[in-house]
Amino acid sequence: MGIVNQDNITDVVIGSLGQHGTITDREREIATGIIKHMHAFIKDVKLQHHEFLAACDYLARAGQLCDDNRQEFILLADILGIEVLVDMMTNPVEGNESESTVLGPFYRENPPVLPKGASTIQKHFDNEETAYFEGYIKDESGNGIAGVTIDVWEDAPNGVYENLDPDQPEYNLRGRFETDENGHYAFVAVRPVPYPIPDDETAGELLRFMGHHPNRPGHMHFIISKDGYRPLISQIYDADSDWLENDSVFAVKQSLIGKFKTAAKELGTDLHFEFDFVLKEGAAAQAVAAE
Ligand code: BEZ
Ligand code: FE
Repeated sequence: MGIVNQDNITDVVIGSLGQHGTITDREREIATGIIKHMHAFIKDVKLQHHEFLAACDYLARAGQLCDDNRQEFILLADILGIEVLVDMMTNPVEGNESESTVLGPFYRENPPVLPKGASTIQKHFDNEETAYFEGYIKDESGNGIAGVTIDVWEDAPNGVYENLDPDQPEYNLRGRFETDENGHYAFVAVRPVPYPIPDDETAGELLRFMGHHPNRPGHMHFIISKDGYRPLISQIYDADSDWLENDSVFAVKQSLIGKFKTAAKELGTDLHFEFDFVLKEGAAAQAVAAE
């Protein structure tokens, strides 16, 4: 500890860590990193006091927006590419396992449990293109895994998720499916369309501050889970969608892009999308970290 000046302030603050209470090695590592990088950032941009006060006011307003339907800080982290980077640190791709990407704010627990091949569509739109989605969930050796739970959700053809649209039925375009004895999954849904993430309030302020747009390419969300395997939170992307190379939340991975094809007549849909996923044996990353 000591009297501070511009040169020693960072070392003085880091030196205070754990002086008046026990902290874990991980807490020390994270606190040291925050102090070091924040101080470097402030010196780098020569942050002025009125800018600091504006940032405090901004964060206070973001906090006031948070409720069960809106988690503003995740949204801000997404706009800054933070959530996707944290996900890549948490779930590094090893071997041939499928890539994960951000969960996003629109997942709902306990979607309707539907039989293989069923439709998630509860309301039709004039501009919809129906699609038959199917594929295999495999282990790293290429064997199909039976009894895998698959939650899927997407926006409607008007670009809005059901829970944000009073004109859509509850849980429209959401479902929970299970793979059959060969690891095969299938369901009917619509071709997801590009949509803007919420761009009002502080999320919109950040987008404008960055001179960026709010749009995401068309994508279907997946959570794929089975005991004994690492759960996979991911999305598949329409290769022909706008915004694929300029996603507002930087979540597109090359390996998650697939192609909608015209469906064979017997499928009964306009389009057909085939996509396989590979799960890695193991437990959830959080459980592994806690061991
Ligand atoms: C989404 O894909 O649903 C999403 C992801 C990040 C921020 C907003 C939306
Ligand atoms: Fe989404």
